[in-house]
Amino acid sequence: MRVTKAVIPAAGFGTRFLPVTKATPKEMLPVVDKPSIQYVVEEAVGAGLADVVVITGRSKRPLEDHFDRNVELEAALEAKGDVDRLDLIMASNDLAKMHYIRQGDALGLGHAVLTAQHHVGNEPFAVLLGDDLIDPRDPVLARMISVREQHGGSVLCLMEVPRDQISLYGCAATVPTDAPDVVSVTDLVEKPDAQDAPSSLAVIGRYVLDPAVFAVLSRTPPGSGGEIQLTDALRELARMTASEGGGVRGVLFDGRRYDTGDRLSYLQANILMALERDDLGPALRAWLPTVLDPEGG
Ligand code: G1P
Repeated sequence: MRVTKAVIPAAGFGTRFLPVTKATPKEMLPVVDKPSIQYVVEEAVGAGLADVVVITGRSKRPLEDHFDRNVELEAALEAKGDVDRLDLIMASNDLAKMHYIRQGDALGLGHAVLTAQHHVGNEPFAVLLGDDLIDPRDPVLARMISVREQHGGSVLCLMEVPRDQISLYGCAATVPTDAPDVVSVTDLVEKPDAQDAPSSLAVIGRYVLDPAVFAVLSRTPPGSGGEIQLTDALRELARMTASEGGGVRGVLFDGRRYDTGDRLSYLQANILMALERDDLGPALRAWLPTVLDPEGG
């Protein structure tokens, strides 16, 4: 069965970015000049997933507005003949078929995914986490979908990280497969201490999941941080047989990925993405050394 739907959990409070996230969803914070969630929706669409469900909560209305028309602004730009900006604001209107589901209580990532059960139904689907921004030049989701179509089961995106950072992620124990970029996942642990981690392979926020995950999630107790963890459900799926919808593989990713989840890495993501842009890169590149070393040159 083909993968056609994407689930984007976006109900969190964004506490690491307070005060800006007091009344503005974290997902609306710009990376250069686009809200971070637009990159994620574009990535889903780029991988062929045109049905997108965003799991939201209170104060998330701006998310819905961003993917809808702004008729007044369109009229104002049209009256001025500002076609370029008109194109910019229209681009997010018809990007995907957008759906919104409220999570109610925010009980963790696993719970957010479970909220999408009715919409997803009995089909494999993708989950994309907004804190991980995958550079559009290094798409990984299409490869993950092809691994799912070939083998069934669920597919994770795994990336080598420095050992001292593994406690920020889900961590996978793996064995190789015949394909050099694919591993078989034998065990998973959410945010282990460095000394207990089974590897330095971190789970990055892209998943292709078998619908069997829903039944597992509905009996998964709170885990790390008191939250219902997707990682814990995947651990169980890794132990289940193929006929039960089990089996977990990982696609090894070594492309460009930016973490927009905390303030420092968010700032770094903005600078890195801006440096790559034709309209901003050259000026930024020339300016940065003058702030870092005002005496230099
Ligand atoms: C979540 C997952 C974790 C994964 C991470 C990727 O954690 O629970 O397994 O490694 O996303 O960004 P969070 O960063 O939301 O705490």
